[in-house]
Amino acid sequence: MNRTRAKLTAALLLGAPAVALMAGAPRPLTELRVCADPFDLPFSNDHEEGFENKIAHVVAQDLNARVVNYWWPSRRGVLRNSILGGFCDVMIQAPVGLDPVATTQPYYRSAYFFVYRAGRGLQIRSLDDTILKHLKIGVNIIGYDYTNTPPAHALGARGIVGLVGFGNFLNPDPKADHPDDIIRAVAKDSIDVAIVWGPLAGYWVKRQPVPLTMVALPDSDAVSGMPFAFSMAMAVRHRDKELKAQLDSVIDRRKSEITAILQEYNVPLLDLRATPTPSAPHGTPSGAAAPTRDTGRDSLLVSDSIYQGWKWFHVYCFRCHGEDAIGGVNPAAPDLRWVLSTSGKAYPRDSFQYTALNGRLDKGMPAWKVLLDTAAVKELYLYVKARSDGWLKVGRPHRESDLKKSQ
Ligand code: HEC
Repeated sequence: MNRTRAKLTAALLLGAPAVALMAGAPRPLTELRVCADPFDLPFSNDHEEGFENKIAHVVAQDLNARVVNYWWPSRRGVLRNSILGGFCDVMIQAPVGLDPVATTQPYYRSAYFFVYRAGRGLQIRSLDDTILKHLKIGVNIIGYDYTNTPPAHALGARGIVGLVGFGNFLNPDPKADHPDDIIRAVAKDSIDVAIVWGPLAGYWVKRQPVPLTMVALPDSDAVSGMPFAFSMAMAVRHRDKELKAQLDSVIDRRKSEITAILQEYNVPLLDLRATPTPSAPHGTPSGAAAPTRDTGRDSLLVSDSIYQGWKWFHVYCFRCHGEDAIGGVNPAAPDLRWVLSTSGKAYPRDSFQYTALNGRLDKGMPAWKVLLDTAAVKELYLYVKARSDGWLKVGRPHRESDLKKSQ
């Protein structure tokens, strides 16, 4: 316990220089170096009580290796400070297709769930139940792709505002984590309903003093295009192809043991599909004038300008034009992907910039020149254009320059 904390602190202090020393040294696989969160049950903790910890031991045993944990909390920068930094080699759990890493075949699939007190007389079946407009809804703010969770997006797209956020993504103290807070808030009646990732819900619902009801959200949401079900895999660095192949075959060999562990933790399991599912939430555009999609590139990896544009957008524009520029929040504010798309309004860059700077006050579009200069508006244009062209996924993009630094 103390050793763990010492290790964490040492890692915090060493930071970047350690990366250079540790990355790339060739090792025979006698150690399975696992990236894990020290305070995140049911996933993992520093007493190795989580299901990721148990699965890590199954994998290590199969490979004749021993588990060496590298503890780092799931905070902003977690990938850079763990797997991408070379401090550890395997994430036991990541959604299939999580971009900055390479993922194995999936070994389980689960979904988001509504959780509410069984005694409340509620009957919530979908995000379109009008009762949701009158309830206090809890969501975890940050999801597995380290951006807003799918339910947070989907509720935003419906203009549902009674949201209470849970999560500590920006809090530097790992001990501040109480992953059960959101479920306890339901049990204590301080929120009416929570929308929670299945494994988290399944584990904590069983540990409350009052009975709670769990209802699965549909696989994906028609309004926001958000998926609510995800296939989970193990993750390694892109260059570690051999390790990935080894893990793929361990998953084949040990599938039933792994499933038994998940069941022991009451993880709600959906059928793993034969077809691979895109994991990172895609903003599936709705309507006839859907922007052209997938021009071969499909990524969250962007230039510094687009990254800045994303930031500006999520400070100033998202509240009317929708998170990730998907529209659907303020009915008067158009989907800007459609505005720029050649199959839509085909708005030229100059007009975009002119409108952004000067607004249309009579129509409810503010003038941004008080807050933003032309350079910022150019960056905004580049971001919205990338979303309109379809290759830039929803969510927080990664800067090319950051990734270079961390390699
Ligand atoms: C308070 C709500 C609101 C915010 C915030 C907002 N907009 Fe708008 N925006 C609108 C509305 C409403 C319209 C439609 C105006 C009209 O009908 O002509 C619009 C239109 C636009 C248009 C023109 C689209 C067209 O089809 O003519 C652009 C470009 C635009 N907004 C960019 C932005 C950018 C960039 C930001 C952030 C810096 C932003 N908007 C923030 C409400 C908003």
